[in-house]
Amino acid sequence: MQVFAHRGASGDHPENTLVAIERAIQFDADGIEIDVQLADDQVMVFHDRWLHRTTNGIGRLRDASFEQLRQLKTGGDQQIPTLLEVLDCIRGRCQLNVELKHKEVAGPTLNALDFAVAQLGFAPEQLIVSSFHHRLLSELRYNWPQYNYAGLTASVPLDLAEFAQRIGCSAIHIDVANLDDDLIDDAHRRGLQVRVYTVDEVDDVIALQAQGVDGIFTNFPSRAIAALKPIEP
Ligand code: G3P
Ligand code: MG
Repeated sequence: MQVFAHRGASGDHPENTLVAIERAIQFDADGIEIDVQLADDQVMVFHDRWLHRTTNGIGRLRDASFEQLRQLKTGGDQQIPTLLEVLDCIRGRCQLNVELKHKEVAGPTLNALDFAVAQLGFAPEQLIVSSFHHRLLSELRYNWPQYNYAGLTASVPLDLAEFAQRIGCSAIHIDVANLDDDLIDDAHRRGLQVRVYTVDEVDDVIALQAQGVDGIFTNFPSRAIAALKPIEP
């Protein structure tokens, strides 16, 4: 079972920052998940619509200029990074799951992924694009078939795995609260991987591996990786 650091190693470091990402790589995470949104024509790595929870700013991310965003601090001394800065930091050392928070960010994000493959040492297979906007994923896959796509859901739509298969996804990403064995079986029969978010408890990590889940998103990648290590005889 693969371990993805959710917003980087965000349990111990400010979420969606370069320090959280570098830490996840040091922990040997298989991959890192980040959230992206467009602001002032820049692809910013940021989860919320509003600035106040994770920065010293106020207002909506999309209403701020790039210069204003650069002056903000997140987690004390970190800046909100751009997607290009994150790609340049990782440089193909692990997989990257880019979660598109809205439609407008999709084109600039996929262009950045193209740059990452051309210039920054990523293989296309290392890049996973996910979104709650399933129609968007279907459109992107038409133009950028070389990347992996994952249908993200917070509930359990009747046709989740069927839909994901139909639009050419390689995985579904589902809330741990909504997972069941039938869903895992259905996805696997269709050739889809099942990744589960957000899994921070060791008991859950071990149980999900036993259930046949392919990957988890966790805020504490070191804890999950340690829990999955085979016990020495
Ligand atoms: O991509 C999995 C997970 O990150 C989706 O929810 O709100 O944490 O972005 P959220
Ligand atoms: Mg996310």
